Amino acid sequence: MKDVIAIYPGSFDPVTNGHLDLIDRGTQIFDQLIVAVLVNSEKAPLFPLEERIAMLKEFTAQHDNVRIETFGGLLVDYAKQVNAKAILRGIRAISDYEYELQMALMNRKLNPELETVFMMPAVSYSYVSSRLVKEIARLGGSVTGLVPKAVEERLRSKVNGK
Ligand code: PNS
Repeated sequence: MKDVIAIYPGSFDPVTNGHLDLIDRGTQIFDQLIVAVLVNSEKAPLFPLEERIAMLKEFTAQHDNVRIETFGGLLVDYAKQVNAKAILRGIRAISDYEYELQMALMNRKLNPELETVFMMPAVSYSYVSSRLVKEIARLGGSVTGLVPKAVEERLRSKVNGK
């Protein structure tokens, strides 16, 4: 049988324990998982692209079937380029569902052969998002347990302007 390649796309600004939990789950059902970091997002990122990639590489090094890549343009075009059969997305709560459903159906319209697969992270990460993690760090709160220790340290030096 052919290897099933899936893409896990996102901004990963920064990677959280929720993302890593989803990557672990994705590696169990797909033969290859490409974590694809969006280049040129409209949002101004806190972490430069290279740093986001370095962090993802560090925390996924234990998986032989994970690759960290970047992509620009349409996700469906990138999927075709890397021969991916599926897009992996995480759904934490009903509030994610509407946006994710819209994207999944739009991607299906653009390429009916590409499936979107939704997975739920562990309940303990169901409230974790990169956006909230950045906000808490900026305002001096603790993000312990929400992101890897090394991300916590990088966040601290970023918000302290070091
Ligand atoms: O986790 P994020 O940061 O919300 O990821 C959003 C992402 C990267 C999956 C989405 O913005 C995307 O796929 N962008 C690529 C451009 C594209 O294909 N847009 C049409 C989506 S229907």
